[in-house]
Amino acid sequence: MSLSALASSIAESPTLSLNETARALREKGESVIHLGGGEPKNKAPRSAAQACAAKLEGGDVKYTPTSGTAGLKQAVARYTEQSYGWSVGPANVIVCDGAKGALFNVLFALVDPGDEVVVLAPYWVSYPEMIKMVRGVPVIVRPPEGGFVPRLEDVAAALGAKTKALIVNSPNNPSGAVYPEELVAGLVRLCEERGIAYISDDIYHKLVFDGRTTPSPYRATDQDPETTKIISINGISKLFGMTGFRIGWAVAPKAMVKVLARIQAQTVSCTSGLLQAAAEGALNGPPADFEALRSSLQANRDVMMRELAAIPRLKVRRPEGTFYCLPDFRAYGADSAALARLLLEKALVVTVPGREFGMEGHLRLSYCTSAEEIREGAARIRWALDPEAPKQMRIGSKTVVRDWL
Ligand SMILES: Cc1ncc(COP(=O)(O)O)c(C=O)c1O
Repeated sequence: MSLSALASSIAESPTLSLNETARALREKGESVIHLGGGEPKNKAPRSAAQACAAKLEGGDVKYTPTSGTAGLKQAVARYTEQSYGWSVGPANVIVCDGAKGALFNVLFALVDPGDEVVVLAPYWVSYPEMIKMVRGVPVIVRPPEGGFVPRLEDVAAALGAKTKALIVNSPNNPSGAVYPEELVAGLVRLCEERGIAYISDDIYHKLVFDGRTTPSPYRATDQDPETTKIISINGISKLFGMTGFRIGWAVAPKAMVKVLARIQAQTVSCTSGLLQAAAEGALNGPPADFEALRSSLQANRDVMMRELAAIPRLKVRRPEGTFYCLPDFRAYGADSAALARLLLEKALVVTVPGREFGMEGHLRLSYCTSAEEIREGAARIRWALDPEAPKQMRIGSKTVVRDWL
């Protein structure tokens, strides 16, 4: 069968394929430490499980309206007002298959072949591939050496006649950085001046630490919900650790939501009503459910920082949010894919090469696992890379001697 050139050019999702590798190794009985994951270990909040069960019990298993159930859109509108002080109604909301589905629909709605979308490194792996899938061109803006936050002037210089959108993801996957308020405001103004969409991927916006809040792009605009250039993307995957429920949404002007609904109607029709009920239950549930997850991630962040500090020559920036960090491993090798392979093969630790996020020489480490796994993972990384570390290490039931340094 002959595949399209476009389909053949789309890269595999490195994070999802690493999940498969970790799963396969664990099934073989190997003692794998998975620091490559993108989902917390919590259970679904009770309010979500109960709402989903009640819906199923009632036998209501039909299609829902394309843009989502009235109840969930209402809950998202309320959440948007409470979280950002941005007053929207259900007609400004479309519910999609995860934030991923929302983002894809938004890019499909905005981009003509050859149009450019500006992406800020380090970036989430899927942005460039999704932009290519809608026949657009990703334009990458890099941060200054040693940092994870772009300079406003570098972003301005990247915007041209073909630019249709800027994607901003703060708190940021993979670095855990939260962009400062002045930068967010500057980026919003830039998009408004140039007439381009500001796509705010807010999937981690509440997962911030040390009493911080995430600067909201809506604070920087004097537009209203129907004229704004800001499209915010969010969902329950990270907010409630409900990744497998595949519910996300976009909040946008009504005219844009209508177009997004047409796209969704011709592709997936709607998302599952059962899972929308669960999302509504989670959004309407007690704030304690969310706070328990946030504070456990902050505690894990602290464990990860303490453990990484014991690895000499590693440069680590303390994450302000998310459940990732992106240490600079260049003292141990410039090729992040080779480093990640070595750690997997020799130490059975899964990490994600920084190259995938536009940050070669770095590795993304997740701390959404248990504190015990974080400690063990960091100890194995040190043993595998640092010539000063003891030569032998117990990995699962085996004692392994380091003979590659
Ligand atoms: C920055 C970012 N955006 C979007 C997503 C996708 O979220 P969802 O599971 O809701 O599709 C992820 C998942 O890892 C992410 O890290």
